[in-house]
Amino acid sequence: MNQFVNLSSFAEQLLINQNALVKIREDMPLEKAALLGCGVTTGMGAAINSAQVTPGSKVVVIGVGGVGLAALQGARISGAAQIVAVDMHGHKLELAKRLGATDVVDASKDEPVQAVLDLTGGGVDFGFEAIGLPETTRQMFSMTRSGGLATVVGILPVGAEIPMTGADFMGSKRYQSSMMGGGSFRVEVPRYIDFYLNGQLRLDEMVSQTLPLERINDAFDSMTRGEVARSVIVFDS
Ligand SMILES: NC(=O)c1ccc[n+]([C@@H]2O[C@H](COP(=O)([O-])OP(=O)(O)OC[C@H]3O[C@@H](n4cnc5c(N)ncnc54)[C@H](O)[C@@H]3O)[C@@H](O)[C@H]2O)c1
Repeated sequence: MNQFVNLSSFAEQLLINQNALVKIREDMPLEKAALLGCGVTTGMGAAINSAQVTPGSKVVVIGVGGVGLAALQGARISGAAQIVAVDMHGHKLELAKRLGATDVVDASKDEPVQAVLDLTGGGVDFGFEAIGLPETTRQMFSMTRSGGLATVVGILPVGAEIPMTGADFMGSKRYQSSMMGGGSFRVEVPRYIDFYLNGQLRLDEMVSQTLPLERINDAFDSMTRGEVARSVIVFDS
């Protein structure tokens, strides 16, 4: 039997390689630890490891679902002074504010590039795209100031092309992608658990609903409708 990415998501019993295991503190609730396996490690690590956001910097995160909210929190923990969240859903932007965004842009109402350039006085030091769309990746490049660093976290469709112009390569901007937070999960997961338990990393707010396995399709439906940051499936045994 093939296992999805060697882990078998949603299986009630797993046989996994020792390389995919990490020992965690016993006082960490497993319902919150579940967030760390992918989305939180990816977003936090993109900000802390891959981009190395600096204190006092300006940051934009486009797409504040689970990964984007984690990138936003990584930027806050790293000491960013201004963090702009961009999304199409007002309730996602409200949650982003509660988790550390200093400014928000509703891309369903405002042209996001100009809005972010105006809010930041000419562009951000660190841009993050956390959706996986060519158009928003291009927007993130344009929001990043000369000398800034643009990090693509979203997974773009295979074969997608990003429409870039010569002007995007002026001004010594740096572009990079970040996979799984760019660190070692044996180091990062225990570190992020310490961040959660000492109050720096806020995971409770990121769980929109907790459901039994029988309602897993409801969780997928609400994810598809864009209603939730994260749904957590709990197992009875
Ligand atoms: N790099 C990695 O290692 C890695 C790991 C895991 C996930 N990912 C990728 O990260 C991306 C985000 O994952 P997620 O789980 O947070 O998704 P999500 O669906 O929870 O969040 C996406 C957010 O983007 C918003 N959005 C959609 N279109 C938009 C637009 N045009 N402008 C502004 N906002 C828009 C949605 O409202 C939503 O809040 C996906 O592409 C996923 O595949 C990457």
